[in-house]
Amino acid sequence: MVRPLVDKGVGTPASFVAKTFTLDTVSGAEILDITALGLYVAFLNGKRVGNDVLTPGWTAYDARLSYQTYDVGSLLVAGENRIEIWLGDGWLRSQLMWGKHPIYNTWGSEIAALVELRGRAGDADPILVTDASWESGELPIRKSGIYFGETFDARIAPTVSGATAAIDFDHARLVAHETTPVRELDALTAVKTWTDAEGRIVFDFAQNVGGYVAISVAGAAGATVVIEHAEVLDKDGNFYNVNYRTAEATITYVLKGQGTETYRPHFTFQGFRYARVAITGDAKLVDIKSLPISSVTEQKATFTSGNKLVNRLFLNTLWSQRGNFIEVPTDCPQRDERLGWTGDAQVFAGTAAYLGDVQTFFHKWVRDLMVDQREDGAVPHVCPDPTRMQPEFYPGFYGSTGWGDAIYQVPWQLYLHYGDTAFLKETLPSMIKWVDFVWSISDGPIVSPPREWGARGFSFGDWLQPKGPSAKPLPTIGDDAAATIYLHIAAKQVAEIATIVGDTASAARLGKMADAVKTAFASEFITVSGRLAYDDQTSYALAIVHDLIPADKYEAAKGYFKNTIDRADRRIGTGFIGTPALLPALIKIGEWALASEVFLQEEVPGWLYQVKMGATTIWERWDAIQEDGSIYNPQMNSYNHYAYGAVCQWLLEGVAGFRPDEKDPAFKTVVFEPRILPELSPVNAEHDSPAGTIRAAWTISGEAVRYEIEVPAASRGVLRLAAAYRDATLDGQAIATGQDAALSSGKHVVTFNYAAPKREERQKSLVNANTP
Ligand code: BGC
Repeated sequence: MVRPLVDKGVGTPASFVAKTFTLDTVSGAEILDITALGLYVAFLNGKRVGNDVLTPGWTAYDARLSYQTYDVGSLLVAGENRIEIWLGDGWLRSQLMWGKHPIYNTWGSEIAALVELRGRAGDADPILVTDASWESGELPIRKSGIYFGETFDARIAPTVSGATAAIDFDHARLVAHETTPVRELDALTAVKTWTDAEGRIVFDFAQNVGGYVAISVAGAAGATVVIEHAEVLDKDGNFYNVNYRTAEATITYVLKGQGTETYRPHFTFQGFRYARVAITGDAKLVDIKSLPISSVTEQKATFTSGNKLVNRLFLNTLWSQRGNFIEVPTDCPQRDERLGWTGDAQVFAGTAAYLGDVQTFFHKWVRDLMVDQREDGAVPHVCPDPTRMQPEFYPGFYGSTGWGDAIYQVPWQLYLHYGDTAFLKETLPSMIKWVDFVWSISDGPIVSPPREWGARGFSFGDWLQPKGPSAKPLPTIGDDAAATIYLHIAAKQVAEIATIVGDTASAARLGKMADAVKTAFASEFITVSGRLAYDDQTSYALAIVHDLIPADKYEAAKGYFKNTIDRADRRIGTGFIGTPALLPALIKIGEWALASEVFLQEEVPGWLYQVKMGATTIWERWDAIQEDGSIYNPQMNSYNHYAYGAVCQWLLEGVAGFRPDEKDPAFKTVVFEPRILPELSPVNAEHDSPAGTIRAAWTISGEAVRYEIEVPAASRGVLRLAAAYRDATLDGQAIATGQDAALSSGKHVVTFNYAAPKREERQKSLVNANTP
């Protein structure tokens, strides 16, 4: 590995390392292995190597560094060749973590490159390696940073001005890039353009993305183009990015002054829908485009219904996944975070695995999570974890229930979707350490997390629950109940995983632990009348979905649960961990109409409110823009946060009605169990699963439902119609509802009658629930 001696450290001009070398012959089979400390862009004889961006990617660099391999035969010539590698600060050393206590040089202060050029794949002896004979120089990139953006002075040509030094590097850290590198998606053009009072031009690309702009400009040498980014406009229609906090997210391009110049940033990306362009000096913007980037480039699922807002919600989720699956699953792509928040990933992983092929993407991230996991089993809040490297201002930045659970929840989703037993095996020891850590916080079945940030076992609880409809606050789940429920979920799930991989001793131990937590939960958090101690939507939703309510209290608890929704004016009252459970819980207790009402709510808080307000990605907060168009609390307000988009898993599994069977994963068996929400008719969904394409579509006319499905060629299907549905037929033959019917591969037509729950009945059951 060599570092450019011209490099002056973080925040200073980027530099390159280069070497001229001679080849007698070129076979065309030449292979280049390449990586860097920092980010790199490589050129052979002036031509870009590959089309990947933000390489070598982002990992827990101190333990694992990805390298890429490129076919470069077509870029080489017999005779003299030149390789030049541009290096930028990237995640390695540009600012990470928020403004109050930014961290620089997280994994090191030196940028460097490592290459090996071989005559053909597998050759033992490379024909070129990085050593101290390489030279170095400064780049036109005067400054770059993930949050900062990039400043590029095109008047400066990369010229050699210094030497390089070989640095110690342990090759055992190298891993072949485990997932597809980040790539550019199709460019978006502006749909609207205007000039503001200061003469700056604002472009609206109509879609919030993670990516960057590409520009063409013409003008005089030294003229400057400054581009800022924003996700939203303020109440009065002005460009607004206060919510980026200390992320400057600005691109500055200084013209060379020769013809039409084209430029796109090299070592940064932004989260944006709008670009604001200010020009100083004599220059004209010839073209500007938005270039979304993502690690997950192919869409694997679609969902449409008779409700346009719902359809857009699905698309918004897809775009939030694209913009936040940039090397690691991040919370957001715009402000001074863009971190691999574990809680967000764990609630969204099940949705992500439908929308894209995320198997290798998550392998890579979970392996980093295992590196970042602390000795005592605590899983960090974010991964790769800058605070493990520099804990000073972030002591105890790990160990929150609902967040650390990513360590088993993500591999579990990979098992369901891809049948990935090998990965369960690889990660099981880390999962067990996590469960034991949570148990150890309180040394027993009831977990009582401390309130103070940084204290051992701190929990985010049900992060970002909305306020209630009136000035009087609604009950909120306590951290103790949230953490105890999560200990149960974790112990039970990891016990099941241990069974699958054949670790019977752990399975038995954790199974017992799960039972002990369940019993303790019932005595500590459920009253004699069946009311949950915190009496909020999240408590009931999680307890119902995870079977934590004893049979003799179930009926009463159902009533109380419905009351929590009524109290909130039939609107959602859950945060990050409660939200994915809310609609499945309502469906599980047979409250389809109520689930539908909550889901289709167009007022705040509700999924469709943001769509109505013009969102093109999923918001972090239910009320990120107020009804009058004003922006809510820009100190923590992202317009591209996928967590609440986890409802798309429910749209596919609950409404369109298909899901993998955990007994026979990877869609080798597909379970079809649709829930008819008449307001959504007609529903059409597809998933390009590892087993082949799955389709499900239904329409309702009066009470008659027609459900058309397709089982992939090598799969089996199971049809499970709710007992409340009547007069069912499968391919023309009468079948019983309330029990399984086998489905062969191929297309099937199912018909049945749907009896709408009568409104009066529901009202009555609510009254009953009040007096259990
Ligand atoms: C992040 C999250 C995260 C949360 C945890 C926020 O700043 O953006 O999405 O899960 O903190 O508290």
